[in-house]
Amino acid sequence: MGRHIHYEESVESTQKIAQRLVYEEAPEGTIIIAEEQLSGRGRMDRKWYSPKYTGIWLSMILRPNLPPPKAPQLTLITAVAVVQAIEEMTNLTPQIKWPNDILLNGKKVTGILTELQADADRIKSIIIGIGINVNQQVEDYPEELQPIATSLSIECNQQLKRAELVQILLLKFEKLYTLYLEKGFYPLKLLWESYAISIGRNITARTVTGSLYGKAMGITDDGVLLIEDSAGKVHQVYSADIELEN
Ligand code: BTN
Repeated sequence: MGRHIHYEESVESTQKIAQRLVYEEAPEGTIIIAEEQLSGRGRMDRKWYSPKYTGIWLSMILRPNLPPPKAPQLTLITAVAVVQAIEEMTNLTPQIKWPNDILLNGKKVTGILTELQADADRIKSIIIGIGINVNQQVEDYPEELQPIATSLSIECNQQLKRAELVQILLLKFEKLYTLYLEKGFYPLKLLWESYAISIGRNITARTVTGSLYGKAMGITDDGVLLIEDSAGKVHQVYSADIELEN
């Protein structure tokens, strides 16, 4: 991981550059990292605020020989790698909110965006975008983000070396990815669940078709969230924003 690193000062989005590199046959493990993104993208067509020299804005290209339904597993593994890297760099204990938000004190510190290119039975490439808020201060955020976003620096009261964090993150990811390719998803699923904030709690899942309230039971091997409603029926949720009940 990270043997082919494209470093950029300012880009629209590292995802966009990764797409071009995928098209140009860039090998697995190619990383695109930028100091600033002018139109960083988030899930569900949201914007991702990516100011200069403050965070880690990177995309990595993977080419696993797997069928497309396995793709969400890679997002979950990435979340575990980010949590472990933050734990190694700081004394903080981040938590994962399904599917892929990483929170500190209930506020978002990291987002992960996965974009898949596949034919019917094989993944051709997968681009995993990771945005980690590292050295921003509260006043650096637009007002609407202040109640919901945080940075490592805000939470641990010190400035961190972003290059070091990137290095640790790539090592953690490589280790987990190798374990996954050798042993399958099960050990990674257990790790993911050990960091997950939502499992066992009552949540509301807002999907494109409506909302569902119930208890989060766990995830399936495909990374699908299982929610049990008040009548005891278990629903599978593939994509949603979730809200935790206090
Ligand atoms: C989300 O939580 O909505 C996902 C945010 C993903 C942000 C990262 S930053 C690097 C990469 N490039 C982008 O434009 N987005 C991802």
